Amino acid sequence: MGHQAIVDTTAGRETATPSLAVTRLTVTEFRCYARARIETDRRPVVLTGPNGAGKTNLLEAISFLAPGRGLRRATLAEIRRRQAPADALWGVAAEVETPSGSVAIGTGLEAAAGAPRRRAVRIDGKPAESQAALGSHVALTWLTPQQDRLFIEGSGNRRRFLDRLVFAFHADHAGHLAAYEAAMRDRARLLKEGRRDAGWLAALEETMAENGVAVAAARREVVERLRAADSVARFGGDTELFPRAELTLAGAVEDWLAEMPALAAEDRFRDRLATSRPLDAATATPVSAMVSSSAASQPASRRPSLSSRARSRIAAS
Ligand SMILES: Nc1ncnc2c1ncn2[C@@H]1O[C@H](COP(=O)(O)OP(=O)(O)OP(=O)(O)O)[C@@H](O)[C@H]1O
Ligand SMILES: [Mg+2]
Repeated sequence: MGHQAIVDTTAGRETATPSLAVTRLTVTEFRCYARARIETDRRPVVLTGPNGAGKTNLLEAISFLAPGRGLRRATLAEIRRRQAPADALWGVAAEVETPSGSVAIGTGLEAAAGAPRRRAVRIDGKPAESQAALGSHVALTWLTPQQDRLFIEGSGNRRRFLDRLVFAFHADHAGHLAAYEAAMRDRARLLKEGRRDAGWLAALEETMAENGVAVAAARREVVERLRAADSVARFGGDTELFPRAELTLAGAVEDWLAEMPALAAEDRFRDRLATSRPLDAATATPVSAMVSSSAASQPASRRPSLSSRARSRIAAS
């Protein structure tokens, strides 16, 4: 599709997980389109055409089916077709198949006399209070050439990108991350202050082990899903027309989970934390930072990272 691939974050293994599919897309006074309508089935779609034909514009239209400012983070005014009649408003309408059924989503600039213009949303014809309502139907993410720093810069950005994907699949991921980070900070403070309250430390380490393993397990599961979602690579049948992404998640707890059940990994993590108290009290990069979190400052080598080899091109150039 030339430049961008929208990654459908609810697409999983083709048989086991029902996926999200846009089966009809209509755009009105949107970018270069006065009006256009596309009907597809559940299979992956490849958009081809000369530069400037309007391929990315269609991806941008799809990006408005989720909350937010869309693929290009454009202002509402930029999106409206420049040649549109003065009173015309832009809009995107779509039929989306979701795991819980088909939903009709409409979104676009609202005609509000006097009030500041905003992007209004309709779900199955009914006005939604805010864009946030889209979140319960559609979760989308994208990887575009403008985001190439993701592959170049530190693993922290890649981890945050991965965590955003994980949030879409595991509703409790954010909670586990926050609980892990809070316990880690409390433990670091106790150790720094030289307070050897064994019971308190043990309780914090228990929280860290439980939540840290949950965080690592969820990240592993989503990376597995991405590996399995290779339907785009197989688009050409036996001949693979598109390169496959090669994804690896590196991290101590993640590695343990490859070898042992989650409960065993928790035990190991808890033991490791207990024995590392003296070391963690003395060092700025505690062993407790074994599950990477955005709050922790730690050497890059300890962070789990979503690494991409040269031949991984989720976003083709
Ligand atoms: N608000 C707008 N009104 C009218 N035309 C617009 C508007 N915004 C963008 N365009 C036009 O849309 C075209 C670009 O479309 P798009 O970015 O989708 O192209 P593309 O097919 O992705 O091209 P490429 O292969 O270069 O990535 C340009 O011709 C641009 O002038
Ligand atoms: Mg483009």
